Amino acid sequence: MTLILAPLAGYTDKAFRKIATDYGAEETVTEMVSAEGLARESAKTEALMERFDESENLTLQLFGPDADTFHRAIRMLKGYDFKKIDINAGCPVPKVVKTGAGSALMKNPKTAGEIIHVLKEETGSKVSIKFRLGWDEENLNYLDFAEEAVRNGADELTLHARTRSQGYSGQARKEHFTHLRSRFPKDESTSPLLYASGDVFTPEDAFSYLKDYNMDGVMFARGAIGNPFIFKETGELLEKGSYEEPSIRERVDVLLRHLTLAIDYYGENIASREMRKVAMAYIKGVKGSSRVKLLLSTASSYTEYEEALKLLFD
Ligand SMILES: Cc1cc2nc3c(=O)[nH]c(=O)nc-3n(C[C@H](O)[C@H](O)[C@H](O)COP(=O)(O)O)c2cc1C
Repeated sequence: MTLILAPLAGYTDKAFRKIATDYGAEETVTEMVSAEGLARESAKTEALMERFDESENLTLQLFGPDADTFHRAIRMLKGYDFKKIDINAGCPVPKVVKTGAGSALMKNPKTAGEIIHVLKEETGSKVSIKFRLGWDEENLNYLDFAEEAVRNGADELTLHARTRSQGYSGQARKEHFTHLRSRFPKDESTSPLLYASGDVFTPEDAFSYLKDYNMDGVMFARGAIGNPFIFKETGELLEKGSYEEPSIRERVDVLLRHLTLAIDYYGENIASREMRKVAMAYIKGVKGSSRVKLLLSTASSYTEYEEALKLLFD
């Protein structure tokens, strides 16, 4: 049963991934990386693939429209040590979809299959694909899509149980994990590993995917933002049936550590600005946090974060 930090563009940078790993994420995934950008040797693209140290079990997620683009990107992967390569077939953003990448691949299972084939043949890595229920309600083709992926050599599948049209709204439709598991029974040697994504906000949500839906692993996405503790809590729940929540002191200490790692990476100016939304999530629901949030919304240095957070202990 694998606990995974999901790919989250704008969040799962190397600082967050390091913190999540320290709190028990067994696998992490980069933010989605453009195969085209990689093929063109863009420095910005390569920065997304860095990690702080070897303790992190890192998967590279690539997005792109066709096998040729992936083929051109592959030569840039020499010297990296990724756990596996994951293909993004779920991103609903128009800018990505209109190039034929992300969830547009759901409309072209054959193209997705060709991409998997090229990655398998040319990298020797494990290959996985993350996809949705379908393009929209009229086209719920995830089972056929999954079959095509596995026929072409996919080792692992992650289903995000929403359609492209749903975006991130509404509830994930968990009943589809039962259908996916029936199509790929756990005791069959040809079955890929199956991972669940969608509405994992508590350790209990993750527990249910593993126990009630018989998944091999679960991805923590929005529920892990400002809450790396969820990995440890879920581990404890699985192991001994209960878990302890972090104290406010621990939340604040980890937030400041996260900020320190981000500063290390981006510099104080950019990190302080980028971390504001994450900081809010770390102290969500903490008593007396509204005044602190107001100060954090303009904080632009480590010291300003520290000063604002002190007020939680007054
Ligand atoms: C801000 C944001 C960025 C995301 N970026 C990616 C991405 O780069 N690649 C990807 O496959 N999914 C991405 N996702 C989807 C998540 O990995 C996950 O599948 C989705 O949020 C459903 O899980 P949840 O309901 O538990 O949040 C993103 C989601 C959000 C909210």
